[in-house]
Amino acid sequence: MRTQVAIVGAGPAGLLLAHLLARRGVESVVVENRSREYVQARIRAGVLEQGTVDTLVDAGLGANLAREGMRHDGIHLQWPGERHRIDFPSHCGRSVWVYGQTQVVRDLIAARLADGQQLHFEVSRTSLHDLETDRPCVRYVDAAGTPQVLECDVVVGADGFHGVSRPTVPAALQRTWQRDYPYAWLGILADVAPSTDELIYAWHPRGFAMHSMRSPTVSRLYLQVDPTERVADWSDDRIWSELALRMALDGWTLQDGPVTDKGITPMRSFVSSPMRHGRLFLVGDAAHIVPPTGAKGLNLAVADVRLLDLALGELFATGSEGLIDAYSDTALRRVWRTTHFSWWMTTMLHSSGDEFDEELRIAQLGYVTSSDAAAAGLAENYTGLPLGT
Ligand code: FAD
Ligand code: DHB
Repeated sequence: MRTQVAIVGAGPAGLLLAHLLARRGVESVVVENRSREYVQARIRAGVLEQGTVDTLVDAGLGANLAREGMRHDGIHLQWPGERHRIDFPSHCGRSVWVYGQTQVVRDLIAARLADGQQLHFEVSRTSLHDLETDRPCVRYVDAAGTPQVLECDVVVGADGFHGVSRPTVPAALQRTWQRDYPYAWLGILADVAPSTDELIYAWHPRGFAMHSMRSPTVSRLYLQVDPTERVADWSDDRIWSELALRMALDGWTLQDGPVTDKGITPMRSFVSSPMRHGRLFLVGDAAHIVPPTGAKGLNLAVADVRLLDLALGELFATGSEGLIDAYSDTALRRVWRTTHFSWWMTTMLHSSGDEFDEELRIAQLGYVTSSDAAAAGLAENYTGLPLGT
């Protein structure tokens, strides 16, 4: 088999890149080691930056988004006794959209299959070869058990943090940075109408709590827990009473309901540089991870894809390597800005038990919610800085 771009991984990054490339007439093949059902059911991110939404709409993927997505013009920041709203449009002229990663992935898979484009699920033993030549290839075993060799001009590693692409880059040519946080998020999905119009991020001495949503009838909520905690120790009742305690506010009630999904996610920052090795380009979680506070992971993956789509478009249209040569440096500028914002939100909103640090958190929350300048900084980062800044 031969194609122009071999894409490893059918997460949001790989699927969106394949879709954008197809629109410019660049051919690709996507290989994914999980099943379609598994990939579509994975509950993860829920907030899309304005630039991510614009990209999806411009790419013809806006129909379900317009129907099911919810535009949010602000968030609530809370600490005991106080809840304050930060408005986005008045501070930076942009908004965000609540639209789940499951919905984005569903739309992308449907579009790819409707267009008759190649997308292979349940492959195994994926490996990358000859990346330092202009004839690289991807080897894998397909769902029927037949070994395949996919020859191509470019390989894109969109296979997430635990994929095979990043480890293929020789360690001597790669630099990585990692920060593991002493926190994890226990996330639930519940069949109950959200108790809030906009997301609530709450700091509490017992730990961070957050109220998000997926639709007018489905809520998504998170609790800071210790990374060693096990889901089995958190009954639904225990989760709801802890959420109610940490988000308590006079005159406000948290409605509970049946929990349909429950999971614990560790929190880390990770950056790998460069995001290119020969004819291999890394996008999304394959190259970097941010802690979830601030909802940046998916949006950062989309920003990488937008840059790489432009760069590969130029390569295949003109043969010029200017943009592919600039890809890693350009992408990493946004990666570090976003890494800082996610670290800052995480540090401000989680509880460490250190009394000095807790006072600093309350001081910072008071400042961000009372100073227009500070609120504008949060708003422009949360809604997403323009690409290339
Ligand atoms: P992924 O979505 O990880 O996709 C990579 C794909 O590659 C997967 O489908 C995987 O199965 C496939 N793959 C892996 N190895 C191979 C292989 N060898 N061969 C073929 N295919 C392979 N972000 C937020 O903003 N908010 C959140 O609440 C949030 N929650 C999260 C919860 C969890 C448990 C995780 C893991 C992430 C969460 N994120 C969240 C981050 C966000 O979901 C990611 O940033 C986003 O999924 C990145 O997309 P991606 O396409 O780069 O990687
Ligand atoms: C969601 C996740 C986040 O990490 C966040 O900051 C806001 C919302 C969510 O899953 O809805």
